[in-house]
Parts: sequence; C-alpha cells; structure tokens
Amino acid sequence: MYELEEIKTILNNNINIQPELIKYIIKNILAVKNTDDKLIAIIDIGNMGVGQNIDKIQSDITNILSYILKCNVAIILTSEKEGARKITANKLQLKNISKIIAIASGKGGVGKSTITRNLASALLDKGLKVGILDADILGPSQPKMLGFSGNAELGTNKKITPVTVDGIKTMSISYMLKDKNSPIVWRGPMLQKALLQMFRDVDWGNLDILLLDMPPGTGDVSLTIAQNVELYAAVIVSTPQDIALLDAIKSLEMFKKMLVKIAGIIENMSIFTCPNCGHKSEIFGYGGAKNEAKRLNVQFLGEIPLIAEIRKESDKGKIIKTIQKQYFSPIADKIIENLE
Ligand SMILES: Nc1ncnc2c1ncn2[C@@H]1O[C@H](COP(=O)(O)OP(=O)(O)OP(=O)(O)O)[C@@H](O)[C@H]1O
Ligand SMILES: [Mg+2]
Repeated sequence: MYELEEIKTILNNNINIQPELIKYIIKNILAVKNTDDKLIAIIDIGNMGVGQNIDKIQSDITNILSYILKCNVAIILTSEKEGARKITANKLQLKNISKIIAIASGKGGVGKSTITRNLASALLDKGLKVGILDADILGPSQPKMLGFSGNAELGTNKKITPVTVDGIKTMSISYMLKDKNSPIVWRGPMLQKALLQMFRDVDWGNLDILLLDMPPGTGDVSLTIAQNVELYAAVIVSTPQDIALLDAIKSLEMFKKMLVKIAGIIENMSIFTCPNCGHKSEIFGYGGAKNEAKRLNVQFLGEIPLIAEIRKESDKGKIIKTIQKQYFSPIADKIIENLE
C-alpha cells in the first residue's frame, strides 16, 4: 500500500535509474489507488498525447514504476486532472462492512432486484453476514421483494436500525417514508444526501457483504455511489439480447472508469422451458452475456432461466429455495471465490 507522497519520495530516491522519465512521473502523477492485486497510478499527460506514442509512454512508465515499487502497476493516462482527482478522492469508509458489491445493469427490468435478493440469501446460507441496501432511491423495489412494508426505527445510538428479513439486514428509502405510494421526486443534492445517509447513518453492524440493488443505467445515483463509496466490485446483470447487452457494457465501462473491479456478468431470463411440454425457447436469445464476458475478459458468473415462479413468488416477497440453490448458489460461490 503506497500513498501518493510516499511514491514521490521513493521515486526521488531512485532518480538516477532514469532521471528524465522519473522526473516526469513525479511532476505529473495525480493520484494513486491501491487495489487487491495492483497499484493504479493516474498520470496527467496534458496535451502531450498529440503526435506521441502513447503506448510507449504507458509501457515505459508502467515498467519503471513496477521495477522501483516492486509491485504490479497499472497506469491510467489522462488529460482531465479534475476527473482523476474525483475518482480517487476520499471515499466514505465503512469500517464494519467488509465488502460492498453493486448489482448493476444498463437497462431497467432485467432482474437486478430479484438477483440481489436471491444472492443475499444464497450468501447468507454459506455463513456470511449479509446486507442489502436498496440504492434504487427513485424506484425502490426491495421492500416488496423482501415482503416488508413497515418503517425502520431509530436506535438508541441515533442511527437507523436496519430491517432484518430472513437474517438479511436491509435498508430502503421507503422504510423512512410514511406515504409509500407517492413518487419520490428528488434530484441532485437531495438525492445524494438521502443515498449517503443510508450508508452512513444506518447501524449496519458487522457485515461480510453489503449488496447494493442499483437503479438501471449510469445516472445520478450510480455516479454518486461510484464516486463516494469504496466499492469492492460490481456485478453486471443483463438479459441476452443485443440491446440490453449494449447498455450493460456502458454500465460496466462506467464502473471500470471509476476503477471499480468487475466481479462478473450474469445472464438473466436466458432460456424458458415450457412447464407443460418441456420445449426450450430462447425468448430473449441465449448466450449473449457469456460471449460479451469473454470478449471483455471478465468473469461470466452464470445464467438464470426465465421461470414463471420467480416472478410470481419474488414479487410477493418470497424466495424459492430450490431455485436459489440451483441457480444462485453457484453464482454466490464464484463471488466468494474472488473475495480476498
Ligand atoms: N429469471 C426470471 N424469471 C422470471 N421472472 C423474472 C426473472 N428475473 C426477474 N424476473 C421478474 O422480472 C421483473 C423485473 O425484475 P426486477 O425488478 O428484479 O428487475 P430490475 O432490474 O431490478 O428492475 P428495475 O430496473 O426496474 O429496478 C420482476 O417482476 C421479476 O419478478
Ligand atoms: Mg430493481
């Protein structure tokens, strides 16, 4: 783990190795981020990109930094100083929560909330302490999927007590509203404040994993979270058809830009098997997400078929254990395998 100033000092002490290049790095390194397996350094190249061999600059800087710092290094070259500072700015540190994982998608209605709910149960069954934060502030649907329509209470420590459903600690904006049917019409700062309150002012206790049920797309909420909360990883959900995949990739790219690790892609509503005759139909297509995962070199976490019971039961707040075990448990295993 290196801090920015520490790196500059180390570079200064090794300046003789390659004086021009090292001086250049010291002058232009904007920010660093330590991830589990590497150090990411953001270097300002100003207008230098024009007519220069960017690949060579990138590999020279990567090589010299890994040599001097003796660790894996990845470089992001940028001419947007402000953007880079924002990405690595001080983020909300939630000491008691080990890993925060966003369940995201490009398009709406692809099954993020259903998957969040089922994955939470699957992770819980494997012995982890799990929470769900309904980050879909403008269209919260976790209360319905969790079968809870009440309000959260204020604890003695002035923090909001999360609502525990089937052993999962949960929080949603609708636990704080009296009239749950009126639409929420917040924007900008109001939205941001309410969102961050659900992280900061909720007594989450110790959690191994907090799953964030994200709103679709790359709007205000997704950006606020990616910029302000130290996310461990993002899971991208898509249905198999091209149009959904195109949007899923946009969402994936947003997280990548914000230096959030991609835990993998899930294909939801892939195959439909007729319960009467057993005929298999590819209603939204099949295998698209797997192919994209391969192309983008990210893990494919699994596929969940289109099953009528999922809709019927999960919208009533119920989990179907057999389905959870068959489809969500292997995905939970893959996620756990990747946790360091
Ligand atoms: N594999 C599935 N088989 C059948 N129905 C499903 C499946 N996955 C999700 N559904 C149903 O599809 C609908 C949309 O799912 P869900 O609300 O989880 O999507 P979402 O991505 O969270 O939507 P939004 O973007 O609006 O938040 C729900 O009625 C849900 O029960
Ligand atoms: Mg949802």
